[in-house]
Amino acid sequence: MKNQYPGFFLVIEGIDGSGKSTLANNLYLALKKMGKDCLLTFEPTNGKWGAILRQSFTGAERLSANEELGLFMKDRQDHLENVIIPALKDGRIIICDRYYFSTAAYQGARGLDPQAILAESRAKSLEPDLCLFLELSPEEAINRIRHGRKEKENNFEQLDYLKSVAKIYGTVKNGCIPLDATLPIEELTDQALKLILQRLEDKNLN
Ligand code: TMP
Repeated sequence: MKNQYPGFFLVIEGIDGSGKSTLANNLYLALKKMGKDCLLTFEPTNGKWGAILRQSFTGAERLSANEELGLFMKDRQDHLENVIIPALKDGRIIICDRYYFSTAAYQGARGLDPQAILAESRAKSLEPDLCLFLELSPEEAINRIRHGRKEKENNFEQLDYLKSVAKIYGTVKNGCIPLDATLPIEELTDQALKLILQRLEDKNLN
């Protein structure tokens, strides 16, 4: 479904360690400074289903791929109904850190069919107005994770897994705009901001 609401729906995607959350936060601050009404949000959410998922990431026993898929789908419907769509109706700019491309890539890397996940997600969910994809090699991403954080990587962040996630992302991110995640963060933010402002203009939201 295309977004027919007055607001603007931006999604940021990329493998773990690619800097999505930092970029999302920078964009939120920059757009707010320009007087735009923004909402920064993420998946998995902190809601009922998202909380079960987050807890399972660090747990000793990982949920099955199908259990994970079911929870991510429920979390997304909940997120759309209760957060994203109401904000779009109010004409706000939503910046969403991860969306259904993540489900296709990550649960696909666990053996499920990425194209089937993508097709089901597209049928059930709202399409973003713009998706930015942060390009970074899995090796560099793991390096960043190991050096930048004190804690051990979670289940999603081991190199082999990230390599298959990156490979599958390559097959499902059609329509997303690639950005070079190795650029200095200020430059990356500027590039992303220019793309967003252009799309806002196209949608007469400037
Ligand atoms: P985060 O690090 O961006 O908060 O996301 C937590 C993990 O959740 C991340 O490693 C990717 C994973 N994930 C999936 O496996 N499937 C999904 O649909 C989403 C949204 C996230």
